[in-house]
Amino acid sequence: MKGLQRGLTNYGDAEFSMFLRKAFIKAMGYSDDALQRRIVGITNTYSDYNACHGNVPKLIEAVKRGVLLAGGLPMEFPTVSIHESFAYPTSMFLRNLMAMDTEEMIRAQPMDSVVLIGGCDKTIPAQLMAAASADVPAIVLPVGPMLVGHYQGEALGACTDCRRLWSDFRADRIGAAEIEVINERLAPTTGTCMVMGTASTIACAVEALGMSLPLAATIPATHADRIRCAEASGRAAVMLAEKGPRPSEVMTAAAFRNALVVTQSIGGSTNALIHLTAIAGRLGIQIDLDEFDTLGRAVPVLIDLKPSGQHYMEHFHWAGGVPRLLSELEDLLDLKARTVVGTLADTMNAATETHEQAVIRPRSNPLNQSGSMAVLRGNLAPRGAIIKQSAASPQLMQHTGRAVVFDSLEDLAARIDDDALDVNADDVLVLRNAGPKGAPGMPEAGYLPIPKKLARSGVKDMVRISDARMSGTAFGTIVLHVTPESAVGGPLALVRNGERIELDVAARRIELLIDADELARRRTRAGAVVEPTLPRGYAALFMRSVLQADQGCDFDFLVPPTI
Ligand code: FES
Repeated sequence: MKGLQRGLTNYGDAEFSMFLRKAFIKAMGYSDDALQRRIVGITNTYSDYNACHGNVPKLIEAVKRGVLLAGGLPMEFPTVSIHESFAYPTSMFLRNLMAMDTEEMIRAQPMDSVVLIGGCDKTIPAQLMAAASADVPAIVLPVGPMLVGHYQGEALGACTDCRRLWSDFRADRIGAAEIEVINERLAPTTGTCMVMGTASTIACAVEALGMSLPLAATIPATHADRIRCAEASGRAAVMLAEKGPRPSEVMTAAAFRNALVVTQSIGGSTNALIHLTAIAGRLGIQIDLDEFDTLGRAVPVLIDLKPSGQHYMEHFHWAGGVPRLLSELEDLLDLKARTVVGTLADTMNAATETHEQAVIRPRSNPLNQSGSMAVLRGNLAPRGAIIKQSAASPQLMQHTGRAVVFDSLEDLAARIDDDALDVNADDVLVLRNAGPKGAPGMPEAGYLPIPKKLARSGVKDMVRISDARMSGTAFGTIVLHVTPESAVGGPLALVRNGERIELDVAARRIELLIDADELARRRTRAGAVVEPTLPRGYAALFMRSVLQADQGCDFDFLVPPTI
């Protein structure tokens, strides 16, 4: 079956179903010729609440043009759209809802292929989870990154500089009037955050995964090339509708490995690991944390972008983007891996920029000898934790300090700036009950603020540990995704104020320095774990079904039984 004949509504009479469907679609003015074409669905994630997706209407127009030029019939349809700053309690809480919505709409409506237009952090992961499960040929079109802002001769980037300058404001280094001006300039155009945050990381990983066109990750959101990329994606979607491949034929274990190599090499966001794990999980592919860590030891950080380095996405693009990066990583990649339009070798060969530049470093001069992330284990994180070592302070990578424990986000907000808080620069800030079930939704709260009294005296970084996530745009010596989380009985729940915690990134260790018997006694004394629940609706479903960080925080009933 193709086009309009796919997935007929069930009335018990297929011919009548088609008759009725045609009657209604004709109300939109379509001709019989149009209705005989292959159909390319286009997700519309435009929303007044999603500034990052402000260019989506123009992109849809261009995708439609591409589809029509290639002889297909474009049909746009709305899905859930999520913006980082407009989602309560946190966008991660809603990612799986968007994935379910997108999957079911792809499955329920007649389409031979689909163009997934997304960008803001959780949107493309949700769409790829959906595409993996629906397994209808699909191509991702990212909305593209914002251009940089400017203030007093300095380039500003959302949201690494949002955090840095907010910290300066908290420490009284800049005043209220100044921070207001900065606020207006941090996000000067539509598009996704232009540092190597989660949105940029995912866009680059998706290009390496083979699910978008070459250069689709980096072309600025505002540029004519972005519109041309949309038109080309529309054309490619018609080819996909005719001949495939399906997402399951592109997103293979080799393709995920390629995506993880690129994620390590770009100083990528820790969130990308959770999302790639969730997407792979839909296809029965397991991302092994220890293998990811091993990759990180072999793959250097080559991209000099904030928060690990200096530049921004537009500079990465004009330096040659992902294709040029792939040529630096050639020996670490499987270039035969399939993409939506060819192979990864074709993507690599799409690099046209050959000039000297300082954004994509050669292997002989990396920004960081090892990859952006390291996996930690120990009595505090039996199933693993993650640190973005490329954005951490070198002097804190091996550190032992006193635990200063916060029981929840509310406790953190109430006490972190209290002048009476017993805290020193050498201490380790611990936040618990901020994981997938604890918060709920595993908010980006892992970037605990430096207590005001320490910030005022010039402290810019401390070791911080939590079962939360962190924005990909943030920086610091921050241990995240401690698994299992404290709300389901993870050992973070058992740490007491004043106890010593040892972080040793080189040894990949995070340890509470008490003996194993004492930890076991505390676990026994704490009694049976009562996991948090919520009474109704999506929230109840979320609490019942969400998996831990090492399983991508997908819902247990959405992954195949092998995961
Ligand atoms: Fe949308 Fe950063 S807020 S990508």
